[in-house]
Amino acid sequence: MPDYCSFSIKPLSNPIGALIKGLDLTETVHGDALLDIRSAWSRYLVLVFEGQELTPAQQLNFAHQLGRVIRYPMVQGLPDYPEIIPVVKLPHETRNFGGVWHSDTTYLPDPPSATLLLARELPPSGGDTQFANMYLAYDALADQTKQVINKLTVIQSSAKPRVAKGRSEKVQIGARAGDIELTAEHPAVRIHPVTGKRALYVNPAHSVRFKTMTSVESEPLLSLLFQHQINPAFTGSYRWQQGAMVLWDNRCVQHYPLNDYHGYKRVMHRITIA
Ligand code: OGA
Ligand code: MN
Repeated sequence: MPDYCSFSIKPLSNPIGALIKGLDLTETVHGDALLDIRSAWSRYLVLVFEGQELTPAQQLNFAHQLGRVIRYPMVQGLPDYPEIIPVVKLPHETRNFGGVWHSDTTYLPDPPSATLLLARELPPSGGDTQFANMYLAYDALADQTKQVINKLTVIQSSAKPRVAKGRSEKVQIGARAGDIELTAEHPAVRIHPVTGKRALYVNPAHSVRFKTMTSVESEPLLSLLFQHQINPAFTGSYRWQQGAMVLWDNRCVQHYPLNDYHGYKRVMHRITIA
């Protein structure tokens, strides 16, 4: 980071995340401030912008400044803003959206670099989102393990039972229904295109097996990695405030929304970036 920065940055936790204050995202962010946001994002992986009561058009405007906005394949967007999907849990529902540790839509051939999630309606307490730093998770592995997984490709699927079930119970996906399966292949370890660092890229929501192994053969190593990657030494958590918007980097971060507010409503607006 440069010595001077156009806003204040306070780390959320040591492994991951930072709180950004003093930015007004209702207006287009110009030049240096945008560069500062990018370098803070590279360093902290998850940025929390508090005090942003943005309209959908303003949230979308900020997203366009970060990159190309893409549609989420499984959920219908807002009527006037199809790029924005509502992430909702209603008082009578028991499952929450994305309630398994994951990186977003790794079953796409080109998974999104970033997700921008804005709090619209929060429960009186609970509903925090946890984040895990996949650079640290990779770095902490033994050299032998790194050598093995550096060579492996992983099959990613949209239809792993726990995730697909949670999704189809909650969301009106219209004609696309939860029955379609999308799959993609990605390296188990990816090199971040901006930082050049290696990040572990398997997740329990979508990673099914290693391409060159059967499911049964893949299981022990995958389970080990799923457990390893959410070690508290790599994670941090954000307790949502009204008007907060969070930007996370799907290439080196996993996230997990806590489902601890039954009987209350939680509504977030999500945009994904190519
Ligand atoms: C998502 C997601 C987390 C949350 O929108 O991709 O996983 O805290 N949401 O709602
Ligand atoms: Mn998600």
